[in-house]
Amino acid sequence: MKQLLKTLTDTFSPSGYEDEIRKVILKEVKPLADEVRVDALGNLIARKKPAKGTKDAKKIMIAAHMDEIGVMVTHVDGNGFVRFTNIGGVYPRNLPGGHVRFANGVSGVIGLEPTTSATDVPPLNKMFIDVGADSKKNCPVKTGDVGSFERTFIDLGDKLVAKSMDDRIGCLVAIEALRALKSTPHDVYFVFTTQEEVGTRGAETSAYGIDPDLGFSIDVTGWGDTPGQKDFDVALGKGPAIKIRDGGMLADPRVVQWMVRTAEKAKVPYQREVLLGGTTDARAMQLVRGGVPVGCISIPCRYVHTPSEMVDYNDVKNAVKLIGVMLSNPVNLQLIVTL
Ligand code: CO
Ligand code: ZN
Repeated sequence: MKQLLKTLTDTFSPSGYEDEIRKVILKEVKPLADEVRVDALGNLIARKKPAKGTKDAKKIMIAAHMDEIGVMVTHVDGNGFVRFTNIGGVYPRNLPGGHVRFANGVSGVIGLEPTTSATDVPPLNKMFIDVGADSKKNCPVKTGDVGSFERTFIDLGDKLVAKSMDDRIGCLVAIEALRALKSTPHDVYFVFTTQEEVGTRGAETSAYGIDPDLGFSIDVTGWGDTPGQKDFDVALGKGPAIKIRDGGMLADPRVVQWMVRTAEKAKVPYQREVLLGGTTDARAMQLVRGGVPVGCISIPCRYVHTPSEMVDYNDVKNAVKLIGVMLSNPVNLQLIVTL
């Protein structure tokens, strides 16, 4: 599983350019699923059909996004310095000195225009990528090219660090849950979505296409357990987090209850998550068509949206286990509103 995670996180795939990661995931899920397809926005959909003889199978959609944050070239200046803008939530303070790799294999380093104080962080338009060129003409990248932030995978034992842990760790959990799912009473759609980091776009169209009865996303969340972190009751190593709300979604209480009860019955450790900012694919799923009851299983992750995102391997294994039990057993969401 760690080897697959390394492959997933090493793969280049900023939002809208998910071809490479889709190939890697397709190779994994094709032998495991009953049906595999790719929709117009590039979402990879792997379906596991209900066991023969099951009546009234519910369509359950599980979303994990394949894309990662990155950069797009706005222009190359006369001296061959590459100016860029963000793809998704790129924070200037995380960039200086970092490495960028472009789709064509060209690498570069991020430099800054001088600032008045050494501790100032300039905005992205005062930064540039130095690819070793000395003129616009011999610069190997051009306007519109996309790049991702490079950083090597490190295995610290329980803690694992890589770029794009957001959300390749969710992809890994989805792949492993599918691998472990021998039989299900549900009609399960694992969706590896595109363009989450630019506003949950792939989840929106895939959820519309699938028209699920319920669903959840698997994504990273923040952390509250390093120096100075405050007011966030989630720590690495204490189990996957069951999301109750985030900045864009109130999880359906019935789905939360389904997750909590399953975790307690199966003796899987879990945490309750109330995140004030940010959101996931579940928001798009919840608001599609006439609305869908959804939730989210989060993998606690330190340093989200830096090139060194850290997760705890035990949380990953417990998330796979929890989802496995959820999908192997019948679900009955009791209506909380009585008419
Ligand atoms: Co993200
Ligand atoms: Zn994410």
